[in-house]
Amino acid sequence: MQVRIFNDHQTLSDAVASEIIFLLKSKPGAVICFASGETPRLTCRLLVEKIKQEKTNLSRCTFIGLDEWVSIPPENEGSCHFFFQHELIEPLGIPLKQFHLFNAMSANLQEECKKMDKLIAEKEGIDIIVVGIGMNGHIGFNEPGVSFENYSHIIDLDETTRTVGQKYFKTPQVLQKGITLGLKHLLEAKKAILMANGSRKAGVIKRTVEENVSNNFPASIMQAHVNGYVMIDKDAASLLDQKK
Ligand code: GLP
Repeated sequence: MQVRIFNDHQTLSDAVASEIIFLLKSKPGAVICFASGETPRLTCRLLVEKIKQEKTNLSRCTFIGLDEWVSIPPENEGSCHFFFQHELIEPLGIPLKQFHLFNAMSANLQEECKKMDKLIAEKEGIDIIVVGIGMNGHIGFNEPGVSFENYSHIIDLDETTRTVGQKYFKTPQVLQKGITLGLKHLLEAKKAILMANGSRKAGVIKRTVEENVSNNFPASIMQAHVNGYVMIDKDAASLLDQKK
């Protein structure tokens, strides 16, 4: 794992968007997995700009959404689906057959997990996975205590996630379960980028980078990734022992 520190959210987001462009150019059939949330929003916007400017070929790539709130419909502005619809699918005009999101309204969520795992296996794995970090160290909805051996699964949300997650919604929501790719997917991805910005993430970034790897703090798994990058701005890096 490498830690890369950027001056601000803009330069960080630009660097991550450039990584995706580089991948799409070198491997047009790439499989790209993205988190939603506040952290990657600017990356998505810059990525859309770059793709349009450079007329990057998107006809063969596959996009995957990292996670979703169970029972929150896609038209709800706080859903991950809504985020991807407005930040990537519509602006890029990507056909839906190339964009795979969990259907968290399905009566058979296990089947959703199986479908996602099958897709990823058939595509021979994820080329790049871009994730954020929750205030309890979660990645996607891989909450503290989760097995590192999991592929897609449904999970009871941690109290912190239920509370912090309210920020995405206009009105208070009952957030009980999440459906998410597993940490095994992250470990097996050819490249993993964990992004964070702002001083409120400084504490969790310190734990990600400096604590022993443990499923009590899921983001620490980044240390075990052979091609893992923790890409953060100066504020998120402010508590690290070594600020390169
Ligand atoms: C959410 C999502 C994660 C996201 C994380 C950080 O709960 N499940 O996929 O990366 O928390 O979100 P944000 O970037 O808004 O801080």
